[in-house]
Amino acid sequence: MKKHIAVMAGDGIGPEIVGQALRVLDAAARKFNHEFSTEHVLIGGIAIDETGSPLPEATVEACRKADAVLLGAVGGPKWDTIAPEIRPEKGLLGIRKALGLFANLRPARLFPELSGACLLRKDIVDKGLDVMVVRELTGGIYFGKPAGVEVRGGKRTGFNTMIYDEDEIRRIAHIAFKAAMKRRKKVCSVDKANVLDVSRLWREVVIEVSKEYPEVSLSHMYVDNAAMQLVRDPSQFDVIVTSNLFGDILSDEAAVITGSIGMLASASLGSEYAGLYEPIHGSAPDIAGQNKANPLATILSVSMMLLHEFDLEKEALCIENAVRKTLQDGFRTGDIMEEGKTLCNTIEITDKVIERL
Ligand code: NAD
Ligand code: IPM
Ligand code: MN
Repeated sequence: MKKHIAVMAGDGIGPEIVGQALRVLDAAARKFNHEFSTEHVLIGGIAIDETGSPLPEATVEACRKADAVLLGAVGGPKWDTIAPEIRPEKGLLGIRKALGLFANLRPARLFPELSGACLLRKDIVDKGLDVMVVRELTGGIYFGKPAGVEVRGGKRTGFNTMIYDEDEIRRIAHIAFKAAMKRRKKVCSVDKANVLDVSRLWREVVIEVSKEYPEVSLSHMYVDNAAMQLVRDPSQFDVIVTSNLFGDILSDEAAVITGSIGMLASASLGSEYAGLYEPIHGSAPDIAGQNKANPLATILSVSMMLLHEFDLEKEALCIENAVRKTLQDGFRTGDIMEEGKTLCNTIEITDKVIERL
């Protein structure tokens, strides 16, 4: 198979983890006789530095033409005081919107080998931790208008709008129910319907969509309780479907389930264009440039790309198994380190994965 991948390494640890994930992709291509060509394009802070924009037009064009997109992370203290319209994060939001990537799949699963690195109690871990967060990605309060800061009645006033129309809710609900059909057939829709009007519509539409999936059981939970249940008893969840902001927060929390945020991969899918694959974590400025970051979430994002974008099930599984074997054999980065294991840097742990492909 021949495919072309647009690569946006971005900022902070972005180039370190993406560089390593591409080595794994290369090794998989060699093993299975595929040809993956890559094209590096700018996004985020580095794009601001080089072009003045966090999302240059050339980047959007390259991503629209590509068969898949791989991203590291964007942002960092250097750009925290820049004008809000051109913040690095705007680049990421912009590319998600430009590619129509409304569905963000964030699978929070604990490799059993990492049960000792997981902060949750053993009896909770032993029940099995495997939650798929389906996050709406191109709507909600992230994009709602009006938004801004202005002087009202002599006071600086900040405002954002949480808005969803029924079509936006319907299409993400379908994604969640379809995902559940391939899993344990349970969807929990997370909202704040006891307070927010937009959540009341969300719940209504999700219930309507559920009628098309009689085999899937649907429950609803308020987001505050969901945040608590996710660490109190994560085994009660199969698929969680939720809005953009709630999904952002809950998926970082769900990363506790995986042992570290450095383990949680994601796929952002839409309809028209190729999907975008990225770890859920950020640019980790505190460890950037130190060859310390955990590249496994990005490597697992490459595995998700092979599966979701190219239907290469065997290849995807091969990468996942190589990650598992690496952990089984006791190799760890700092974020998942435990006593008696071997501490590796970013490059070394990738070497171990490649050896086990
Ligand atoms: P972060 O995810 O970058 O870091 C949070 C903590 O997790 C830090 O202690 C970091 O060292 C650690 N961490 C993250 N990834 C790791 C990895 N692969 N291996 C080991 N440790 C890891 O979140 P933050 O500190 O809140 O944000 C930093 C910057 O990243 C901000 O500018 C933010 O806007 C941006 N950000 C970008 C994305 C993205 O590009 N998708 C996501 C989240 C945050
Ligand atoms: C994520 C990040 C982004 C988000 C930011 C950097 C725009 O936190 O991908 O989870 O909020 O979606
Ligand atoms: Mn986030």
